[in-house]
Amino acid sequence: MPAIVLVGAQWGDEGKGKATDLLGSDVDYVVKFNGGNNAGHTVVIPTPDGPQKFALHLLPSGILTPGVVPVIGNGVVIDLQVLFAEIDGLIARGVDVSRLVVSANAHLIPPYNRTIDRVVERFLGSRKIGTTGRGIGPTYADKMNRIGIRVQDVFDEKILRQKVEGALDQKNQLLVKVYNRRAISVDDVVDELLGQADRLRPMVVDTALLLGAALDRGETVLLEGGQATLLDVDHGTYPFVTSSSATAGGACTGSGIAPTRVERVIAIAKAYVTRVGEGPFPTELLDAHGERLREGGREFGTTTGRPRRCGWYDAVIARYAARINGVTDLVLTKLDVLTGFEQIPVCVAYQVEGVRHDEMPMSQTDFHHAEPVYEYLPGWSEDLSAVRRFEDLPAAARAYVVALEEMSGAPISAIGVGPGREATIQRRPLLPSRSGT
Ligand code: GDP
Ligand code: IMO
Ligand code: MG
Repeated sequence: MPAIVLVGAQWGDEGKGKATDLLGSDVDYVVKFNGGNNAGHTVVIPTPDGPQKFALHLLPSGILTPGVVPVIGNGVVIDLQVLFAEIDGLIARGVDVSRLVVSANAHLIPPYNRTIDRVVERFLGSRKIGTTGRGIGPTYADKMNRIGIRVQDVFDEKILRQKVEGALDQKNQLLVKVYNRRAISVDDVVDELLGQADRLRPMVVDTALLLGAALDRGETVLLEGGQATLLDVDHGTYPFVTSSSATAGGACTGSGIAPTRVERVIAIAKAYVTRVGEGPFPTELLDAHGERLREGGREFGTTTGRPRRCGWYDAVIARYAARINGVTDLVLTKLDVLTGFEQIPVCVAYQVEGVRHDEMPMSQTDFHHAEPVYEYLPGWSEDLSAVRRFEDLPAAARAYVVALEEMSGAPISAIGVGPGREATIQRRPLLPSRSGT
């Protein structure tokens, strides 16, 4: 059985957590392959006492599904304080977290990188990225710069001390001489990391080996991306991106699973678009329509609480995401939020200084100047939240989905009409059928 990749098609917060949860009961492993606690996934689970809401940051959304093995892959950056706080929070709510495994090769976010993330943003002033301030960028920079601290390092005090000393030799110069901050003590960092080693040790395994063996046995592995295509460090709106590979290619490097084992790539797209932080956003609405999407869709960040910027659906970025990720299935979320708009504009191309672009412009400068070319689709007024079959949607909502499918370069296999697991319209199965089980 195969590996399945699930990624965001826009600028994040498309509803990846809900989609992972939806697939959870049909998979054996859920692997987080990139990012860290910059992610925020809200998952709403039905229980006998009513729906329960969970906000996850560092743990894979599959942790909420009984029987699934949740895996933190090598491509993730881990803040150990956040990891243990999140685990404790779930235990307190009765969730079984005992199956969680963590890659020995994942990098740790040392406390100095949280500080550096924040001071660098302050120094960038108007050129800031609007990061989540969690130390993500500096930690991936350290990884590439070969001065990172990995999970396995906390089990060898001598190596850990050498690595922290090496990193702080550079970082303290920067903090003190450039950013006017106090130097950070090697002992404090080493003590903090060593203090967490005992609790971490039983979770740490060679996750690439574990997942390869699982695939050989015919088990199903879901690779869950944090962030999204347009936030990918290579393929996103650089420099207004996160610092990891959030696209389908990153699923392989971030987990150690080979590309030939990936059978499907599912991309999650909202029926409109949101973005948090700075950077270009051609269909952004700065008017009452934007406010209505933000209120109707409850578009406030799961991680930082920031209001999300809102805009109309952008088929140019959807086609781009379909191509970059090799998308086999789209999940269109939050269709319910569009109820009540008389007509719904959809961006089908851009106009850049008089020239029409049907694809993402090659240069970032052009993308900054892109004006959306809209097609106007009729809206509907019916509440969609109780609809479970495509044919029961109002005709205009069906036409909207079909039009988006034609424009976006991939079939829309499922549609979200509410935050709960059950509030989903399945048009086609998202997973290949299991044989022999
Ligand atoms: P993620 O980061 O991609 O996992 O997305 P977030 O959890 O940050 O943001 C998506 C929000 O939309 C969450 O609050 C979900 O509960 C909610 N959500 C997901 N799908 C739907 C849907 O189809 N309709 C509505 N109304 N809300 C949804
Ligand atoms: P999920 O997984 C939305 C954005 C930040 C900022 C940029 C860089 O919930 O979809 P970083 O702290 O990563 O260096 O910030 O990326 N960003 C997200 N926006 N959803 C996310 O995750 C995000 N993770 C990072 O707002 O603009
Ligand atoms: Mg989110």
